[in-house]
Formats: sequence, C-alpha cells, structure tokens
Amino acid sequence: MNRKISEKIRYVGVNDHHKVIFEGLWPLPFGVSYNSYLVIDDKIALIDTAEADFSNEYLSNIRKQIGNRPIDYLVVNHMEPDHSSLLGVIREIYPDIRIVTNAKAVPMIGGYYGVTDNIHVVKEGDTLSLGNSTLAFYMAPMVHWPETMVTYFVEEKTLFSGDAFGTFGAVDGGIADTDARLCGWLDKSENCFAEFKDEMTRYYSNIVGKYGQTVQAALKKLSGLEIKRICSTHGPVWENHVADVVAYYDKLSRYEAERGVCIAYASMYGNTAQAAKSLAAELAKRGVKYSLHNLCTENVSYAYRDAFKYDTIAIGAPTYNNDIFPPAYNFMYGLCARLVKNRRFFAFGSFTWAGASVRLLNEMAKKQDMELISEGISFPQGYTPEKCNMAAVAELISKQ
Ligand code: FEO
Repeated sequence: MNRKISEKIRYVGVNDHHKVIFEGLWPLPFGVSYNSYLVIDDKIALIDTAEADFSNEYLSNIRKQIGNRPIDYLVVNHMEPDHSSLLGVIREIYPDIRIVTNAKAVPMIGGYYGVTDNIHVVKEGDTLSLGNSTLAFYMAPMVHWPETMVTYFVEEKTLFSGDAFGTFGAVDGGIADTDARLCGWLDKSENCFAEFKDEMTRYYSNIVGKYGQTVQAALKKLSGLEIKRICSTHGPVWENHVADVVAYYDKLSRYEAERGVCIAYASMYGNTAQAAKSLAAELAKRGVKYSLHNLCTENVSYAYRDAFKYDTIAIGAPTYNNDIFPPAYNFMYGLCARLVKNRRFFAFGSFTWAGASVRLLNEMAKKQDMELISEGISFPQGYTPEKCNMAAVAELISKQ
C-alpha cells in the first residue's frame, strides 16, 4: 500500500480482516481499518493510534516511515479504544512523547491507561508548531464521544477528523481515495466514494446515528476551514471526494433520505414474513426501491443502514406477550435511540387472540414524529392477501 499521503503526512494505520463483530455489535463483512497518521517536520506528531491487537504491525508501519527518529507528540483526537489502545505501548517506546489532547480526554487517559503525566492540554483554536507545520485543534464533542476533537494541518489544509467521515470496510490499494478500494468488493464501483457509500451509511447509522445534532454543529464549525483532504480514523483518506463526503454527512445528520422503503420484519411462524414479502413484491411492481430485512436471522446493523438511507420504514412484528415481538422491538428501540425522524412509517403483523404489536409500534413512531402512512395492518392468525392488502399500501407509498 502507498502510505505517502504527502511529503509530510504518512499513513501508519492497519486493516483488520479478523474481527467479525465490531464493538460486540456490528458485523464487518469487509473488515475495518484503524487509521493513524504521522506528520513529519522538525518535530513529529502521531495522530491517534490503532487497535491493540495490531501493535507489531503498527509499530513496524511507524518505523518504516521515520526509522529511529523519536516521536515528539501524540495527538489524541478521540479516546475510544479502537484508536487509543496502543497509547501505553507508544509511551513505552517513546518515553518522552508528549500527549496533546483536550481537558475532557485527560481523565479518560488516566482511567483507561493509568497515564497522568506529560500531557499538554489544548483548547478550541489552540495551535502547535512542528517547525514549518502547524496543527490547530477544534473541539467536536459527541462526534462521537464527549472528548472528541479534530486536528487541522494548516499548511496542507488537511483535517484529521477522528471518526467523522469514516466508514466500515478495510482499504485495499492505496489509502487515498484516488486509488483506494473496498477490500473484498468484487464488483468495483465507478469511484471510491460510491464503493464505500453503503458502508459509510452503515457506519454512520450504527455508531454515530444518535448524534445528528452534534454532527451538524461540528459541520457548521468546520465550514469556516478550507479543507482539501480529510484523514478519518476509518476508511479512505478523502481527497477527490471531500465535497461528496461532507455533503453526505450533512444529509445523514439531518436525517434526510432518498425515496425508498426499508422493510424490516420478525416472524415466528411465517405469517408476518409473508406479509413483508407481499409488500416487497407490490413495491417492486410499482418501481419503488426497497430493502427487505429479516430481523430474526440478520444482524440489525443492515436494517439501521437502510432506515437512514430510505425515507419510509415498514416494520412487521407479531404480537408476543401482548407486546411487540422482541427482534422487531429491538430494531424500533434502536431507531428511537438514534432519534430517527423525517420518516414515513407503516406497521404490520399477525396475532392469534389479541393484537398489540401494530398499535405499540405506531405509538413509538408517533413519539419520534414519524408520519404514519395508515393505521397499519394487524391481522389475526394466518396470512392471506385478503387480510393484508399490501397492494393498497404499496399504492399509498408510491403516490405520496
Ligand atoms: Fe472509531 Fe468512536 O471510535
């Protein structure tokens, strides 16, 4: 991989092809990268670290770039352990390194790694000179932890953005979007942004989705900077697609979506599943884009992705214990936790002796200010097309 981003910026991150579930929750079908960067001048700064499992590879990446030169500063933009868990190792190898971070990160560094000394605390707009290179620091709280900040390399108009503008997916080829490719993606897309877009949506919706308001605040703050390059902690370095990724994060954090339907269902004996598939078939007949997710067999990660992608959400759930069948409740709960709004909503599901799931799903949707397409379809016992007129529902969706 070409790790030279510029004469002064080198990529020293790693690709993780081994982890199956990220954060114990989210699948990684294409892996993930933990990005870290060196800024090399009279002084050297390391921007974030990487995941602890990769210490040998990570240290080797650093040495290949700077040999035995010492690193003067470790900039900690974000304390989540996928980026900070080699902090202790770096301190052992570079004992004089000075940690540069903000006040909110200091107790976290102590709490996670027992490190309390040689820390330089920066505030909004503070700068650090490396010689002929200047790093400026801007706070970006809750993008996605409270201590998050970003670092701007003034002379190269480069933003080290932490998780912001990141994606799932390991990176093949070079790290820059001029030649980066999503690892394992067989059918290459027309460009790097198009190829990573679904994994960016999944990353955003799964991990950052709750924080739309704070992402908006950060975007507003950063709009005052001229940004030519974005070095995120996950995924490609954006050079050709800076405007695309900034516009897309803006859209996602406003909860704006394209026309289409995310159908997510959970079914015990197949009746709610048949209703879901009937809705999908009727939407297809009308040329409406949709995705269909079985919440009993599929990780909910993909349904969250499409709930952020499409402007309509349809949830199917039988009634269970006079409540919503748990896999569907889990999905709906996650949508509410992520404050998903600006969506049209439709609920459906079977019951045997008393229906509750559709009513309860509708109540949750209304609390999120979602617009109900109809009162939903709650049907007794077995599925029949007569009980579930999905043609009428699809018609309503396609006309609205
Ligand atoms: Fe990739 Fe919030 O850590």
